[in-house]
Amino acid sequence: MAVLDVSGLNVWYQAPDGRQMHAVRDLDLTLEAGQRLGLVGESGCGKTTVLNAVMALVPPTATVSGRVIFDGVDLLVPDEINARKHRWTGLSLVFQSAMNAFNPVVRVEDQIAEPMVVHGLRDPRAAVRRARELLELVGIAPSAGRRYPHEFSGGMRQRAMLAMALACDPQVLIADEPTTALDTMVQAQILTLLDRLSSELGLALLLVTHDLPVVSQLCDRAAVMYAGRIVESGPIADLYHSPAHPYTRMLFDATPDVLSEHAVASIPGSPPPLNEERTGCAFAPRCDSAAEVCRTEPPPLVRPGSDRLAECHRPGAGVDRPARKAHHV
Ligand SMILES: Nc1ncnc2c1ncn2[C@@H]1O[C@H](COP(=O)(O)OP(=O)(O)OP(=O)(O)O)[C@@H](O)[C@H]1O
Ligand SMILES: [Mg+2]
Repeated sequence: MAVLDVSGLNVWYQAPDGRQMHAVRDLDLTLEAGQRLGLVGESGCGKTTVLNAVMALVPPTATVSGRVIFDGVDLLVPDEINARKHRWTGLSLVFQSAMNAFNPVVRVEDQIAEPMVVHGLRDPRAAVRRARELLELVGIAPSAGRRYPHEFSGGMRQRAMLAMALACDPQVLIADEPTTALDTMVQAQILTLLDRLSSELGLALLLVTHDLPVVSQLCDRAAVMYAGRIVESGPIADLYHSPAHPYTRMLFDATPDVLSEHAVASIPGSPPPLNEERTGCAFAPRCDSAAEVCRTEPPPLVRPGSDRLAECHRPGAGVDRPARKAHHV
């Protein structure tokens, strides 16, 4: 059963000169209860914008349309009284560069306690008690809650952010690049922690990252985003072994692999400008397998397998190249 169902989501940012920049284009995304979905794609493709639209955090000058259904409520309907409550209790967001989001002059436990008090879930004393339990849950000694954020290491602050995100017992945890700023050891610890928390608490996880190995380690499914759209989605192993969209394939091939002697293959060019009118596939100018139709016609939605979707005129093109076969043993 879908716990979060996003359909037809569009986000336009307003440029200083008044032009509308179309950052997210008619995007559909479904997260099932308990599922772990990785939203991947290169910088600027709109990952954070999708999360911000779901959590009503886009700037007031931005325009958002579509449906974001959580627990039977459309969070995008402005006068929906439940929308605000659901956003921060049912869905919880760990921000990109969250580690710097703590208030430096407030004790960590008081900051973790605050959302519980604000949402009327606990009185202030009970909220602090719960904050200490949550710190323990994320592997920090409860007594450390008396400390200030600058007395925590980066890894501890990221754990504490997770504790704060869990404060209102959400069903869905959304994490935007939760490990990017951490060294590989701490990164591995945070991933193990996310893995444990999502199993123990039955949390659905929407993990945003441009780091494919992180997704492979933690998620069952991935949705690959390019220029404001999801171009392919499916089980992560299928995407890795038999990518349908050339962008998915090129993204994997651009990912360093310590076991392979093949050099990473960067993707030439850069994503299209946000305000560009599109006739064909947005990836066509950078695609190593593009045909004429890719430049002139919008790509069709295809099903490369059960439980998989892709938007491509030439699904699977280029997968059998010898270099790639050697790369992905
Ligand atoms: N507040 C804003 N006003 C105008 N444009 C914005 C704003 N926020 C983001 N954008 C633009 O929208 C596009 C998508 O940005 P977004 O931050 O969602 O990308 P992202 O996929 O999260 O990238 P990254 O991996 O670097 O975090 C980018 O071109 C960005 O410049
Ligand atoms: Mg981002």
